[in-house]
Amino acid sequence: MTIAQILGTMDYGPAPEDAGPARAWLAAHEDGFGHFIDGAMTKPAALFEVRDPARDVVLARVSQGSAADVDAAVAAARAAQPGWAGLSGHDRARHLYALARHVQQHARLLAVLETLDSGKPIRESRDIDVPLVARHFYHHAGWAEILDDELPGHSAHGVCGQIIPWNFPLLMLAWKIAPALAAGNTVVLKPAEYTPLTALAFAEIAMECGLPKGVINIVTGDGETGAAIVAHDGIDKLAFTGSTAVGRKIREQSAGTGKGLTLELGGKSPFIVFEDADLDAAVEGVVDAIWFNQGQVCCAGSRILVAESVAPRFEALLRARMETLRTGDPLDKCTDVGAIVHPTQLERIRALVEAGRAEGVTLTQGAAPAEGCFYPPTLVTDVEPASVLSVEEIFGPVVTLTTFRTPSDALALANNSRYGLAASIWSENVNLCLDLAAKVKVGIVWINCTNVFDAGAGFGGYRESGFGREGGREGMMAYLRAPSPAGKGAGSQPAALDTSPATGMTASDIDRTAKLYVGGKQARPDSGYSYAVQGRKGAVGLAGLGNRKDIRNAVEAATKATGWGGATGHNRAQVLYYIGENLSARAQEFATRLEAFGTARKDAQAEVDAAVRRCFWYAAQADKFDGAVHATKTDFVTLAMHEPLGVMGLVCPTAQPLLGAVSLMLPAIAMGNRVVLVPSQTHPLAATDLYQVLETSDVPAGVVNIVTGPRDELARVLAAHDGVDGLWYFGARDSIRDIERASAGNLKQTWAEADDARDWTTAAGQGRGFLHKATQVKNIWVPYGA
Ligand code: NAI
Repeated sequence: MTIAQILGTMDYGPAPEDAGPARAWLAAHEDGFGHFIDGAMTKPAALFEVRDPARDVVLARVSQGSAADVDAAVAAARAAQPGWAGLSGHDRARHLYALARHVQQHARLLAVLETLDSGKPIRESRDIDVPLVARHFYHHAGWAEILDDELPGHSAHGVCGQIIPWNFPLLMLAWKIAPALAAGNTVVLKPAEYTPLTALAFAEIAMECGLPKGVINIVTGDGETGAAIVAHDGIDKLAFTGSTAVGRKIREQSAGTGKGLTLELGGKSPFIVFEDADLDAAVEGVVDAIWFNQGQVCCAGSRILVAESVAPRFEALLRARMETLRTGDPLDKCTDVGAIVHPTQLERIRALVEAGRAEGVTLTQGAAPAEGCFYPPTLVTDVEPASVLSVEEIFGPVVTLTTFRTPSDALALANNSRYGLAASIWSENVNLCLDLAAKVKVGIVWINCTNVFDAGAGFGGYRESGFGREGGREGMMAYLRAPSPAGKGAGSQPAALDTSPATGMTASDIDRTAKLYVGGKQARPDSGYSYAVQGRKGAVGLAGLGNRKDIRNAVEAATKATGWGGATGHNRAQVLYYIGENLSARAQEFATRLEAFGTARKDAQAEVDAAVRRCFWYAAQADKFDGAVHATKTDFVTLAMHEPLGVMGLVCPTAQPLLGAVSLMLPAIAMGNRVVLVPSQTHPLAATDLYQVLETSDVPAGVVNIVTGPRDELARVLAAHDGVDGLWYFGARDSIRDIERASAGNLKQTWAEADDARDWTTAAGQGRGFLHKATQVKNIWVPYGA
């Protein structure tokens, strides 16, 4: 096109980025790339091609990592770890700072390489991805520096296995490596097979910076290489970002291994536009929400929910804006929408859209080049909430639009997803925005903005979007082991339950046959059976034999008790103080009960005293374990709120049956969770005696539910139950595998330990660590400026 023609049409002329240096770098590696292991590149082997999706040409050939390569990488990381963790925080900070500086020095090369490899527009890799990479290393250099002051007593996990996707290849590397290194871990990282090139360039940067060998190891390859990392015994913590299907597999495979695990998975995030929203701004928001990175973004706003009254106007504005989007050469600085990462992904998008078309939706599509791996920006209307396009993560530039009438309709639609990663809310009414922000079940809320990221705020989701956060304090904590005695002990394996008639009990023992406690009422077990509870001198009473149905009833009762999560910390504190007071009033009775189980008088009294003190301690924390306002970007307040997980299953330790139960119940309910508690199987009556205490302490019905019976059987039901959002299991180490595996269904958060690893009467049985595990952080981004 000539300049005269361009001036004639007033259209954009081409503005190509110079890819020369990046191509020269690739040419210098034309023999293929090896892995980065123990500070050096290995000899290339088992090469596969990496292609530029926009031009469909080969960019490079990289090695398919074998199990032996993973072995070598883990061995190098293991050997390097003590030395790395042994450096002062300041020295680790200097290394991270150097990585940040060198990323900045090579910023343009990295951006162009990223664009060639992934197909994302150069504007994005240059202005968003690479600057955020540098920011992440700077931020975590800071964490390394102050770690001992901020999180005393915490230690590194050891060797981290990290598996990342192709949508933000270098940024995901930074999100994984920076906090791991800051904490004193060493890493084995596998980039996605479609996009390994910036990770390999980063390996060279690590060498250039003089990072000690073995601290970072990068093994390229496909899912098989990833699976070898997941299965490796030498890995202490796994971090994965990618599809929910693979995340679930990793949850199952790592069950019972004791490996730490964080999962950042898919999403189907709502983009909610109220009638008083600035509609022009909201339309620009849609561009950033779903056409950024071709919609290949886990937190993409892929479901527009718009108030019915403004829907026609909003839709008209959106269609007009779509017409101006430029889809094409990712290296062109004027390109808005680049190439889809790989033909497989393009096929996946096409197939899903075809499935939607077959359901009768209406499609409006923008322009896209006919050749190459491109998909046009697409708006889907006449679509039902249950349609495949409303439900499935498309991971492409395709957005659905549906309408709502009231804020509560909008909320119901927003929460109608198995995912829970992000939400974007548009309204000029801040009260309405914050009200919805508090109620929507997601990890990140953007008010009048979208897809804003910063290393200082945690990123991660609820539900099937995974668990754990990246960035901020909570992201750091995911790479650290809290000071705890966990890891020791095999845990208890109670004897099989005896449902035959018990002998030798007195009439008063039989009178005290304990029922279950469900929805604030004592309930007979569904089985109709009880089991004999053995004490020092034979049976001391009967406890209900709970089963699957009782757990289901208890979960239902807990699910209904929604008011508790919305109560203020002060209200919850009042109830906890009251529990403490009532427990204290009956201290002798509880101590006598514990004695009957065989606990020495002195220990029994100490256990009851500790239980009472614990009530006061968690009451005190109920209105103090609060969130933060993060210093992130200019003109944003980023509110980090602690939210309850929801319904929690609590499976209590065998010994110290009163204190064990109370030590799990109190932090969970102090934070607003509702619980289904399975007490010590051997000594359940210490917990069933709590019924009256709960009743007299104004604990609302359904907040605490107690089901006695076969511990592991009930634990498995809780683990597999989709209505349970979190599970704590303190029992037999041998059972943990089964229980964690069963939790993979809805990807609930689990915390499983051998129950003899901690002495519940000591500080190990109480603390902020329990509160941390009973909550998840929701980050709410609120822009300001007149
Ligand atoms: P994927 O989940 O298979 O790939 C992500 C990473 O996991 C890659 O490095 C891959 O090699 C690795 N991997 C694959 N199978 C593995 C296994 N069994 N064990 C360990 N690692 C394994 O995602 P894929 O197939 O590339 O994309 C499919 C869909 O997943 C997308 O359309 C999108 O819906 C979703 N996705 C979500 C992402 C997110 O950020 N939430 C990122 C990438 C994909």
